[in-house]
Amino acid sequence: MNLHGKVAIVTGASSGLGADFSRRLVDKGSTVFGLARRKERLDELQKELGDAFVPVVLDVTDEQAVRSWVKDTFTDLVPDILINNAGIGKFGPVDTLSTEDWHTMINLNLNAVFYLTSSVTPLLKRNENVCHIINIASIAGKLGNANLSGYNATKFALGGMSDALMKELRNDGIKVTCMYPGSIATEFFTHSGGSLHDRMMQSNDVATALINVLEMPDNFLIDEIVMRPLFPKSAK
Ligand SMILES: NC(=O)c1ccc[n+]([C@@H]2O[C@H](COP(=O)([O-])OP(=O)(O)OC[C@H]3O[C@@H](n4cnc5c(N)ncnc54)[C@H](OP(=O)(O)O)[C@@H]3O)[C@@H](O)[C@H]2O)c1
Repeated sequence: MNLHGKVAIVTGASSGLGADFSRRLVDKGSTVFGLARRKERLDELQKELGDAFVPVVLDVTDEQAVRSWVKDTFTDLVPDILINNAGIGKFGPVDTLSTEDWHTMINLNLNAVFYLTSSVTPLLKRNENVCHIINIASIAGKLGNANLSGYNATKFALGGMSDALMKELRNDGIKVTCMYPGSIATEFFTHSGGSLHDRMMQSNDVATALINVLEMPDNFLIDEIVMRPLFPKSAK
């Protein structure tokens, strides 16, 4: 796909991967609708990136708000790219993981992906260009980890959903890719209960991988991509 002039929706654009995906897409000439709850963060990014970045203050777990936003926004304009990136981890032993934290992960990492994907897919089907949905899972969607039961469950489920959608939508000219990154130095670890270290991947490098996947020729589909830091443990 030539990204110049394309229209992308990026969830979780207010920090980490979503902010870097937005930067790189705007740099390539795309218009990005960046969705998140923190208005001030989105406004800062808009100042940095200009009019090609459209800040959208939206809680993607609010089904009605998501469906209304899609319906009201894409009247004339047609999206080409959907990046389901917003996600959260709540780590801890299963016997101390609260029901609230379990539901928070299911609602954001899985239900919200359904709300947005099911709302946007009819528009992508009408788009004459080849379109692309990218779901950001995690290496925790490939391997179970002690103390990550809820997070693992959502990311494995997202992998399954992505594989099904890839097979369902390819004949409509819609690519579906699931990305499974290992540890990346972002604010994710402030919310999850994990900790950062000096050898994690950098979000800008993950964004490079995403741009490469998007820019592949139309009849070339990368359906899964697993990314890891070369050295998994801190150097210290
Ligand atoms: N960091 C890692 O090591 C790592 C590894 C593998 C996969 N991932 C995945 O990568 C994705 C991005 O995470 P990140 O590392 O960039 O973490 P991050 O910096 O914490 O970003 C999470 C984003 O999700 C948004 N978000 C949270 N709840 C939301 C809601 N209800 N509605 C809309 N947006 C919401 C946040 O914005 P607001 O708070 O402003 O709403 C924020 O922009 C996640 O799916 C995560 O599971 C991360």
